[in-house]
Amino acid sequence: MAELPRNVCGTPVKGENFFGRTKEIDDIWDRLATDHVLLTAPRRVGKTSIMFRLQNTAASREEWFGAVYYSAEAALDETAFVAGLFAEIAKSPRCGHVADALSRNRRGELAARVAKLSVAALSMELRNTTTTWSTLAAELQDAVYGLPPQGRLLVMVDELPVFLLRLLALDRSRAEAFLSWFRSFRQGRPERSNDVRWLLAGSIGLAPLASRQRWTKLINDLHESTIGPLDRANAQGLLDGLATRYRLQLSPAERDALLERLGWPIPYFLQLAVDALRKRPPGTERTDRVLATLCGPESQIYFAPWWQRLDEELGAVNASAAAAILTACAIDPDGAAKASMEGIFVRFWTDRDRDAQRRALFERLEHDGYLVFERGRWRFRSPLLREVWLERTSR
Ligand SMILES: Nc1ncnc2c1ncn2[C@@H]1O[C@H](COP(=O)(O)OP(=O)(O)O)[C@@H](O)[C@H]1O
Ligand SMILES: [Mg+2]
Repeated sequence: MAELPRNVCGTPVKGENFFGRTKEIDDIWDRLATDHVLLTAPRRVGKTSIMFRLQNTAASREEWFGAVYYSAEAALDETAFVAGLFAEIAKSPRCGHVADALSRNRRGELAARVAKLSVAALSMELRNTTTTWSTLAAELQDAVYGLPPQGRLLVMVDELPVFLLRLLALDRSRAEAFLSWFRSFRQGRPERSNDVRWLLAGSIGLAPLASRQRWTKLINDLHESTIGPLDRANAQGLLDGLATRYRLQLSPAERDALLERLGWPIPYFLQLAVDALRKRPPGTERTDRVLATLCGPESQIYFAPWWQRLDEELGAVNASAAAAILTACAIDPDGAAKASMEGIFVRFWTDRDRDAQRRALFERLEHDGYLVFERGRWRFRSPLLREVWLERTSR
């Protein structure tokens, strides 16, 4: 059964576990031929998995010789970011010249050991031996744009907004200086500017963050590519593949009923549904029972991050307002009219800043995949998420 996907619930998928997304991947490569890309999608739609796929297929494509993946999630400051990215690039296949540059610039102990160090250890050494991050950044820039002409390199940075929010909490001007440096880094040297392409991603919206902070011109070289749910054929295909692998006897009618109930077929929700199916033997009303499992206490852990991040990222007042808005929008599957939520806005914000606060909050709830606005009403984007929210708040 080597070719069938496995039931992965949470970690990014690779190899045979990566299902579909052919068109999305082709579109991204097409776009990368001419532009840097900002890959956006709400959490759990499959961004990191797509980035791993790009990484593993780059070398087989004409014009590209490699791809680097770096997650900025754990970087605590600019030095950690640049050192981590430097180490990741230097350690990537066919990027030996970057490690060579490191050895050239840093005579002595570290240079002799570069080849033997792991990515994590090299990143740690760079952090410890560098006085300022801009020195290290200049060295990285020289090394990357000093590539021997052999095709293009793709450098992908995941969870960039998490890192920016961290800098922002320390000092707004540091975050701005960093973004400004990063933009000029992407531009590279004029004569080599086509040799390195960048793809940036993260589940928190970089564009809304940049617009709130008036930083839009610092990211205006990026082309935004948005990833959505699976199309119908791929959603059916993933469910069929998983059902076959685990011998689940899922008839086409049952499968389609399940897709109907899930409503917004991102691969993660399909994987969770199959996880629930594996716990439910075939029988009547299986779709209902799968949904009940997904909304029940044993599945809360899968959805907790959706609710936790409201608290973590919005601040107390906005998080409470967001919870009240979600509840108002969850009561009816068709959502709630804007006007009917006026009472909530009055409760949380004063006259003066009400409009701006409300607009910013809805923009985030929309961008991060909680709500959509249709025919004058805000409703949950995912019927499943709506049911989970109702279940959670009714307890
Ligand atoms: N192409 C895919 N095929 C199968 N499952 C997928 C695919 N993409 C995502 N998933 C499912 O979604 C989950 C989250 O994927 P991930 O790439 O980490 O999303 P994101 O980076 O957008 O948060 C995975 O653990 C897996 O369950
Ligand atoms: Mg991810």
